[in-house]
Amino acid sequence: ADQATPTLPQMGFNNWNSTHCRDEFNEAMIRGIADKFISLGLRDAGYRYVNVDDCWANWQRDKNGQLQANPKRFPSGMKALADYIHQHGLMFGLYSSAGTSTCEPLQENRGFPGGLGHEKQDAATFASWGVDYLKYDNCNNQKIDAQQRYTAMAEALRGSGRHIFYSVCEWGQNKPWLWAGKPPVDANSWRTTDDIRDEYASMLKIFKQNVVLDGYASPGHWNDPDMLEVGNGGMSISEYRSHFSLWSIMAAPLLIGTDLRTIKPDALQILLNKEVIAVDQDPLGVQGKQVRDTDGIHVIVKPLKDGSEAVAVFNETDAARDVSVDASEIGLKNAASYRMRDLWKHSQTKGNGSIKANLPAHGIVMYRITAL
Ligand code: GLA
Repeated sequence: ADQATPTLPQMGFNNWNSTHCRDEFNEAMIRGIADKFISLGLRDAGYRYVNVDDCWANWQRDKNGQLQANPKRFPSGMKALADYIHQHGLMFGLYSSAGTSTCEPLQENRGFPGGLGHEKQDAATFASWGVDYLKYDNCNNQKIDAQQRYTAMAEALRGSGRHIFYSVCEWGQNKPWLWAGKPPVDANSWRTTDDIRDEYASMLKIFKQNVVLDGYASPGHWNDPDMLEVGNGGMSISEYRSHFSLWSIMAAPLLIGTDLRTIKPDALQILLNKEVIAVDQDPLGVQGKQVRDTDGIHVIVKPLKDGSEAVAVFNETDAARDVSVDASEIGLKNAASYRMRDLWKHSQTKGNGSIKANLPAHGIVMYRITAL
């Protein structure tokens, strides 16, 4: 499981969207998820990181000021969990906040210790546990400049002696696309929006905020429109297919946010669509560009390494729509004919590069178009 140069958008799992801080979030669950990565074929499909979100930590640091695991949730400790995950050929991610404490619990007058002012010690702790990935949140930040706070942890991670993927999570508040991907922060990804919810309206809003930021993404430095809700039950299967397609054509992180121990086959099939994943993970490393946003119809085009174009045509409206997209709108070169590969039907036709589709409400089609 090495990903020494993490130039592609990260793929994996994070428990937050399915459990938040409920008791079911614990070491038995996370081990069970790692097992499912293997048995469900997710590792083979490219998913790598098993990430643990807020509420993993104990209330206090230990007497040496070191972070410790919550003994009820993670009685074996984080090192043992990391070892278990690594033995599965997977990588381990952890969460902290660039503040005095993390985001949860919101209602109580105390929180889990944050990294602000403890960056070096915490990075060293993460490295000693075998952490491969840090999601660094923004709660309780004492209004200290964001670039300063995210730089402090970036430098601590680089000095930790272990390669740790760096995921900045300041919710797009300080336009991180302008600075988080460059030195001295040099993060691998940055959240561009508020938290996603398991509702079509939330997914749509986040998509619209993220899709226009394509100019800021580059290999190893990705816009992050938050984790996937596929499988959590608040959207229809067709809406989840749109969600997964849109995230993939935006070269977004693909972090599964549902409990894989109980996922239903139709949702799993979405997460395992290798042709769509290949668009997200294409080595050219370009975020798709929106070439049409008119009347509730979105056309997004992503150039691929082999010279093909991936194209998504999405109907955000509540009614079915007939849509045509001309080859010129996709920017296709002159060619006599194209192979039009439908990435959800897994079938192909010969065509002239234009697309005609009858899209259901909230529905999408996705093609890979290759000159013949
Ligand atoms: C913030 C983040 C979420 C999640 C929670 C945990 O809201 O944006 O993704 O990590 O904190 O408390």
